[in-house]
Amino acid sequence: MAATDMSTAKLYPAIIENLNTAVLLLDGALRVTYLNPAAETLLALSARRARGLALGDLLPEARGYLEALRRALANQHPYTEREVSLRLPGNQEPVVVDSSVTPLSSQKLLVELLRVDQHLRITREETRLAQYQANRVVLKGLAHEINNPLGGLRGAAQLLEREIDSDNLKEYTRVITGEADRLQNLLKRMLTPGSPPQRRMINIHEALERVRSLVLAETHQGIEVRRDYDPSLPELSADPEQLIQALLNIVRNAAQALGGKGVIRLGTRIARQRSIGHKSHRLVARITIADNGPGIPAQIMDTIFYPMVSGRAGGSGLGLSIAQTLVNQHDGLIECTSRPGDTVFTVLLPLQP
Ligand SMILES: Nc1ncnc2c1ncn2[C@@H]1O[C@H](COP(=O)(O)OP(=O)(O)OP(=O)(O)O)[C@@H](O)[C@H]1O
Ligand SMILES: [Mg+2]
Repeated sequence: MAATDMSTAKLYPAIIENLNTAVLLLDGALRVTYLNPAAETLLALSARRARGLALGDLLPEARGYLEALRRALANQHPYTEREVSLRLPGNQEPVVVDSSVTPLSSQKLLVELLRVDQHLRITREETRLAQYQANRVVLKGLAHEINNPLGGLRGAAQLLEREIDSDNLKEYTRVITGEADRLQNLLKRMLTPGSPPQRRMINIHEALERVRSLVLAETHQGIEVRRDYDPSLPELSADPEQLIQALLNIVRNAAQALGGKGVIRLGTRIARQRSIGHKSHRLVARITIADNGPGIPAQIMDTIFYPMVSGRAGGSGLGLSIAQTLVNQHDGLIECTSRPGDTVFTVLLPLQP
């Protein structure tokens, strides 16, 4: 018995070293005395360099989190906090962790951090993708159902117009044909993304430059479109027309939101080992379209990629749903974050199909 206990006890350090959970041991002043390899990865810091450093120096923006650690130490109360957002030095995006804190003594605090953001993100993306797909099916069915009788209505109105002499009455038939045309245009836009992409190798920067000049030509001089391209981005296999359409819909929205004055920033980067939905990709192109306009109205933020959702007078609310469909057809995804003065649309496209 005793022999078994001994060998198990010898295993403890190996177990902690091999955990996926980041484990840190802090002293009474919240200085790091130990961290396991998972914690080294999370903090992007070797154990040797971290030892003796104050956690406050590693997480300069996590004042509330550090305060809670101090309280746990003072009260000797363990606690768990879910989905804590921590901004790590050198990381643009905050990481989200579940954090368990256990005081071992008044001078020793055990902290466990388990990253949950990747998992949360994948679940969120999968749900979204499923919603878009369901949406597309409903919409296509509806558009077809309306399209056929509409053609009949329009034809009948034209025949009627020929039979009528009175200009006054012709006015009515013209309203019918005019409105039927408008509806048919709308339906055509809804049905367009149905065709499969005609892929070839394209340079994403050429597509962005096309979009840039199109938008500049149709907007005020007060709008500036800056670029921050990563020239090492390889070519990608895509339908150039579809991709330009998708990007144009996003950039045009940005220009419209700016209302004549402001800055749009177009950026490209490579992301490695990025998953889109449940599929993981070795290399992904990240295209960002950012503007410093008023931001997306809060009440439509969760539904902007749905058809017929618009916050703009005269908007048909199709631009983003079409863009999302086109990008989905390329196995990609469009995401969006927005606050006043900083709205960012991110288009993710796998570089190897
Ligand atoms: N960059 C942005 N800044 C602020 N709001 C935006 C931005 N992009 C989109 N929106 C909001 O999202 C809504 C939906 O956009 P979407 O392109 O789908 O439709 P639309 O622009 O209203 O109409 P359409 O593009 O069909 O002419 C817009 O009406 C606008 O309220
Ligand atoms: Mg639009």
